[in-house]
Amino acid sequence: MVERTFMMIKPDGVSRGKIGEIIQRIEHKGYAIKAMKMVQPTPELLAKHYAEHVGKSFYPSLVQYMTLGPVIAMIGEGTNIVSGWRTIMGTTNPTLAAPGTIRGDLGREWEGEAVMNIVHGSDSVEAAEYEIKLWFA
Ligand code: PPS
Repeated sequence: MVERTFMMIKPDGVSRGKIGEIIQRIEHKGYAIKAMKMVQPTPELLAKHYAEHVGKSFYPSLVQYMTLGPVIAMIGEGTNIVSGWRTIMGTTNPTLAAPGTIRGDLGREWEGEAVMNIVHGSDSVEAAEYEIKLWFA
């Protein structure tokens, strides 16, 4: 089924010069990038994006990490892209992510309290529509 998802290259991916490599992996898979922009996330935007995580122990580290610099926000489209993009990203913790995945190949280990995991993808079709509306209002 053709779906849309929200994809993001996080601040470490931008600052470390990995935009091209990550976009190449998206395009190699055959996914279409329907929209793309560079955004400096604010704590207010992140509180909406990560609404279900506000108040969790890791949330301050997450906001500190995600406000380090600009991110690349994208709308991707393709067959089963929601789960497919998450497979390409790899698991949350880069130290456990499989080789061949973006996080496994490019993600950093934990730095301080923050897990620098370089990319984001919506975890469901419903979350994708919410995140697309939020970032591409
Ligand atoms: S949970 O509680 O299991 O639902 O959380 P999880 O799915 O593992 O993570 C939710 C998002 O928070 C990010 N995360 C962190 N970022 C920085 N530092 C720390 N310590 C940290 N812990 C979790 C994680 O990458 C998820 O963000 P996205 O953007 O969806 O990957």
